[in-house]
Amino acid sequence: MGHISLTDGLLLFVVDNSYPGSTSLNEFLRQKGISPGTKVMCIEGGCGVCVVSATIMDPVISKPRTYTVNSCCVPLLQCDGWDITTIEGLGNTRDGINPIQQRLADYNGTQCGFCSPGQVMSMYSLLKTNPQPTMEEVEQIMDDVVCRCTGYRSILDAMKSFSADAGPDLPGGLIDIEDLERKICKKTGNPCTGKCSSDQPQTMLHMVTAGSQWLKPTNKQELCTLLNQHKADNYRLLHGNTGFGVYKDIGDWNYSVLIDIRGVVDFNIIHVSFTDFMYK
Ligand code: FES
Ligand code: FES
Repeated sequence: MGHISLTDGLLLFVVDNSYPGSTSLNEFLRQKGISPGTKVMCIEGGCGVCVVSATIMDPVISKPRTYTVNSCCVPLLQCDGWDITTIEGLGNTRDGINPIQQRLADYNGTQCGFCSPGQVMSMYSLLKTNPQPTMEEVEQIMDDVVCRCTGYRSILDAMKSFSADAGPDLPGGLIDIEDLERKICKKTGNPCTGKCSSDQPQTMLHMVTAGSQWLKPTNKQELCTLLNQHKADNYRLLHGNTGFGVYKDIGDWNYSVLIDIRGVVDFNIIHVSFTDFMYK
């Protein structure tokens, strides 16, 4: 038994073991009515309309880092301790829209609007980690969301206008990172920094759901113990889970034990010694 929590800075969700290991973050966000703005289409990590921003504790530096994730491929139970920001967390026409949403509108970067939440969330994640990107860096990250209407030029121009090297033909300019945040932390009363996840103790998670077990070790020793315990079981190791986009076999119907290795700190460090180069 166990539970996981996931927060978007304003709301805290506690997820119990009634959710099978195959439930995706996207299913949870949409079916619970938490984020109708997060879209779904290909369910294989290809189109990007489902992307949300996730702030996750980096196990090496013990600090939160923000990533763009395809919510259709992320298992819900993997979100233990994550801070998820969806398009609803950025702004709306009632309370005020976010500068990225405004810039996309100013550049006419929306037609049907189906891809727009994904485009905005991709840019939001980039600016959270790199507030002064170059135009090339913007172009590199904006290839993850497919748009069927605009031909991309207007979207790219809108997002490149946030770049440090944008010319006068792309008006708008850099913004202050604090202007990105509408969320106010309930604990501090200041804009959300996404650091709540780092407050959580890093302990092994073990959930027994109807069809399988979900385990999240925090170090190599715990992982080895689990592999030994479950060597006779049909188990699967998960990290980015992008293979789900191709094989769709993560579910309880195929595996009785799912082991999330994202928290194993040793797998996030590469040791290189001088002798590695000597014998090449
Ligand atoms: S729905 Fe297409 S990438 Fe998630
Ligand atoms: S605006 Fe229609 S898919 Fe992008």
